[in-house]
Amino acid sequence: MNAIQDELDVWEASWAAYDEATYRDVLAYIRDEDIVYEIGAGDLRLARRIAAIARIVHAVEIQESLLSQAACSGEALPANLNIDCGDARVMPVPPGTTAGVLLMRHCTHFQLYAQKLKEAGARVMITNARWRLGVEQVLLQEKRLPYENLEMGWYACWCGAVGFKPGPVEKLTSELEATIHEAGNCPQCSNAGKTSSM
Ligand SMILES: C[S@@+](CC[C@H](N)C(=O)[O-])C[C@H]1O[C@@H](n2cnc3c(N)ncnc32)[C@H](O)[C@@H]1O
Repeated sequence: MNAIQDELDVWEASWAAYDEATYRDVLAYIRDEDIVYEIGAGDLRLARRIAAIARIVHAVEIQESLLSQAACSGEALPANLNIDCGDARVMPVPPGTTAGVLLMRHCTHFQLYAQKLKEAGARVMITNARWRLGVEQVLLQEKRLPYENLEMGWYACWCGAVGFKPGPVEKLTSELEATIHEAGNCPQCSNAGKTSSM
């Protein structure tokens, strides 16, 4: 039986390709020695491009029809691209994974994927799931600042939430405005009834 019983959000379960700028931002974070795990690989258009840079790519997609479409396209799969059809929420992260890719603007499972990748020893997760517009690289093994220890400023939390912790206006500097703190245990964690394990 699956460990996760909840249905995917309707938007989360939808496939849509991203624009070229988004793909370029992702590819810029990929290193040639990386073993990449792409979660929600759609029709494999990004996975193929990652495979041209990285050592190995494991791509998982829950919709079989998208993978069969990709297989029937007539374009051979790169030899270093492995594909799997299934639910990434319950599948193990492939051994040796160094980087996760999660392009899923409507993702409601950010923390689950981040935690699985971290426990598997991955260095980074490259994603648009927290900020929704821009692509960021989340350093999975770095220490995080507990929200209560952040005086004020922008934060991006382990639970997937982002926000600005208000503080005295006289303490707001341009440097603070441009800094994003990697946090844990933010107010949204408690609202959602889940505390970030960080
Ligand atoms: C926005 S699309 C991105 C596709 C691809 N990364 C790209 O940029 O072309 C997100 C994909 O994630 C898939 N997906 C969502 N939840 C998933 C899950 N739990 N396991 C595997 N795939 C999932 C959806 O079916 C959809 O194809």
